[in-house]
Amino acid sequence: MMQQILQTRVLKKTMLSDRVVGLTLGLDNGAALPAWEPGAHIELELAAPHTEPLYRQYSLCGQQDNTHAWQIAVLKDEASRGGSVFIHEVLQEGDVVPVSAPKNHFPFAANKKCLFIAGGIGITPIVPMVKAAVAAGLDWQLLYLARNTSDFIFLEDLQQLDRSRIKVHASDVEGQFDLQKTLMAQDGQTTVYSCGPQGLLSALEQYQQEQKELGWKLVLERFAVEADASTLTGNRFTVTLQKSGKRITVDSHETILSALKREGIKVKCSCQNGTCGTCETVVISGQPEHRDFVLSEEERELNETMMICVSRARSAELVLDL
Ligand code: FES
Repeated sequence: MMQQILQTRVLKKTMLSDRVVGLTLGLDNGAALPAWEPGAHIELELAAPHTEPLYRQYSLCGQQDNTHAWQIAVLKDEASRGGSVFIHEVLQEGDVVPVSAPKNHFPFAANKKCLFIAGGIGITPIVPMVKAAVAAGLDWQLLYLARNTSDFIFLEDLQQLDRSRIKVHASDVEGQFDLQKTLMAQDGQTTVYSCGPQGLLSALEQYQQEQKELGWKLVLERFAVEADASTLTGNRFTVTLQKSGKRITVDSHETILSALKREGIKVKCSCQNGTCGTCETVVISGQPEHRDFVLSEEERELNETMMICVSRARSAELVLDL
């Protein structure tokens, strides 16, 4: 799969809160950047000299109609695997950052009522969605949850759109939010869009099951899941790499990604838990068993691509475009 890579430059780096830095990226000479839709993310290639690059994905959270600058916000992750620390501590204004064209696994398509639920830094894809809902004249509400009052970013901007539709809740001062009660007030006209930590998204999935009769729909963006070793194992199968003709056995205890690494084959990856889409690989033949959180049901059925960090094979062989 050919991916468009843009050599962007950090135009501005500014702290949005104690733990979140905002980056504005643009092309030299003010050239136009590709268009994007609310929910889209870009993938940054982060590399100090003489080191292997890290690939990290961040939601676009600036003005959709600004074709000369992209804005992202990056939380300094306490459990950082290097990406957010690099952005906070190493990356400087003026530095060049290779960036992918925008991709969208979290498309916004509400046409009536929408309830946005953002958990902490999960506000980033929600910001352009709220603006799109305002522009479309939809009936929207935003529930913005955070652990600490100091974690709220973009709040003033959002409140200027319509303060009465926004509820903020910081658990350090107000305790646990009663999510169940808020969801009980929804109906079949409502689509809930949420991005946030795994605990929040799991709770939403559970309440949707429990409140099935209310009929509200749920669209989620995950930025992390805890790796569960049992989801990474399964049947033994063979992967054939189309470009080299090489055949590699993927044992029951390993993933396609780890089998490729074992054979010295380098492929791009980031999260390694099926949430980011970096390792998306074109399937030429064979039937994948999708275990990721990126592809939609429709995309899974097409079997055109797969996330090789977690997904396996239903067929004895997969031929991949590698
Ligand atoms: S590396 Fe993130 S989905 Fe595979």
